[in-house]
Amino acid sequence: MSAKDTFYVTTPIYYPNDIPHIGHGYTTVAADVLARWRRLIGDRVHFLTGTDEHGLNIVRAAGARGMTPQEHVDDINPRWHEMLVTLRIANDDFIRTTEQRHTSGVQAFMQRLHDNGDLYTATYSGPYCVRCEAYYTTEELVENELCPIHRRPVDRLEQENWFFRLSKYAPALLELFEQRPDFVQPDVRMNEVRAFVEGGLTDISASRSAFDWGVPVPWEPGHVFYVWFDALLNYVTAAGFGTDDAAFARRWPVDVHLIGKDIIRFHAVYWPAMLMAADIEVPRQVYAHGFLLVGGEKMSKSNATGIRPTELVEHFGVDCYRYYFLREISFGHDGSFSWESMEQRYTTDLANDLGNLVNRVLNMVSSYCDARVPDPTGEPGEAEAALGEDLDRAVVGLQSIDRLEFKKALEDLWVFVSGVNRYVEARAPWKLNKTGASDDLARCLYTAVDALRIIAVLISPVMPVAAERLWAKLGLPSALDEQRLPDAGRWGATPVGVTVQRGDLLFPKLEEQP
Ligand code: ME8
Ligand code: MG
Repeated sequence: MSAKDTFYVTTPIYYPNDIPHIGHGYTTVAADVLARWRRLIGDRVHFLTGTDEHGLNIVRAAGARGMTPQEHVDDINPRWHEMLVTLRIANDDFIRTTEQRHTSGVQAFMQRLHDNGDLYTATYSGPYCVRCEAYYTTEELVENELCPIHRRPVDRLEQENWFFRLSKYAPALLELFEQRPDFVQPDVRMNEVRAFVEGGLTDISASRSAFDWGVPVPWEPGHVFYVWFDALLNYVTAAGFGTDDAAFARRWPVDVHLIGKDIIRFHAVYWPAMLMAADIEVPRQVYAHGFLLVGGEKMSKSNATGIRPTELVEHFGVDCYRYYFLREISFGHDGSFSWESMEQRYTTDLANDLGNLVNRVLNMVSSYCDARVPDPTGEPGEAEAALGEDLDRAVVGLQSIDRLEFKKALEDLWVFVSGVNRYVEARAPWKLNKTGASDDLARCLYTAVDALRIIAVLISPVMPVAAERLWAKLGLPSALDEQRLPDAGRWGATPVGVTVQRGDLLFPKLEEQP
């Protein structure tokens, strides 16, 4: 019997060799939306993110700044926390791989692999990309021996290392892929990973002796663990492996590892093999999304196309930031960021469809009903029934978030937002007010306010700030973060007689571009 009672979602732990850009924001926001969505439907959730602070990559970044690695990571760490605040990320934990809870967990885990005979010593030499922190075979290099990810020259590394018997796990991995075709998603990534394993696995190096910035190998002085072993293990060490068995049992296995496609091999091949070797259950799913492109190139720290999340949040606000990337790009595919398309989304979807709707409805409740939500005395008719169907579509559509189909979820949610706009347009409360059709007017405005309440709940995983602001305008007695689906998505939960407040526009006109 598993003690698991928690939905456990992770992002990669990012290299703090530099400050975050919108690529890191992308994965982190997606994971946050999933976590908030699961909380909204009543799950206990554990959402983990963090930083990957060991390895040559960090040693070099620190050296370039004239700092020790520890000074460097301590200096830059607050910048990563700032990103979480800026993007309203509600993570439950943040792990730094330099923390004691991590290093001791790594040692305990790797000791198991050593004791099981899955580690051995050998000499290895081959091309190595420091930015990937990975060996490549000569065949994998592109364009005159460049790293296939970073398109930069590789180093040649030769050292006597501890090796992990990855090859031994090829049959078990293929069986895993066979039995659980959704272990890796989307399918195109599953196929890529399967082909890679079918092509034959070689054992991988698990330790380094050329530098000492890492977790020491307990049985081999002068060696530290290879940074990817150290890094992948954050998912177990942060969950309590080796330090809090009860917490670990409630969380493990991970439900979804959200990652970019650049690190699929580590997560979908090395990681499950490491877990199998330690006799620990493998994750339920690894989901690898596409790259954010800027001017057609993968945006990255190394090619100076990096855009900081704050640059966009300052102009568009955090809600638009979170909405835009998930609505604009199919999550599994590469997608381009452009300032113009973000402006377009802001104006059309947020300011017009949603912001104007809110403003209009609250305006009418203010002028026609003394700002109090009227008692819906009139009978619901066809217009209300049609709106009910749009809502059903939105609620079902939101479940696409479980499959990481954010774009679909938001499209379906906007069917409802548009439906409410159409409803108000068709019922024309301003006419009902003029002709003194007070029953119809009350029914219409009650329905519209009730719809805004539901919209606040439904948008809350994606746009938590706008949702809170809208909720506050509605003057509801309960708290937004206590709302749970499906109940909060049903009609009629808005109390009659509460006082609404128009307040500031939800999505004011954008400032001129700086
Ligand atoms: O790889 N588009 O860290 P990293 C989309 N420390 N996502 C992007 C992106 C882009 N242009 N650029 C970065 C590491 N990302 C390791 C991970 S995990 C045990 C260790 C996101 O700082 C995406 O999630 O290079 C990608 O996988 C990750 O940042 C790489 O971050
Ligand atoms: Mg990288």
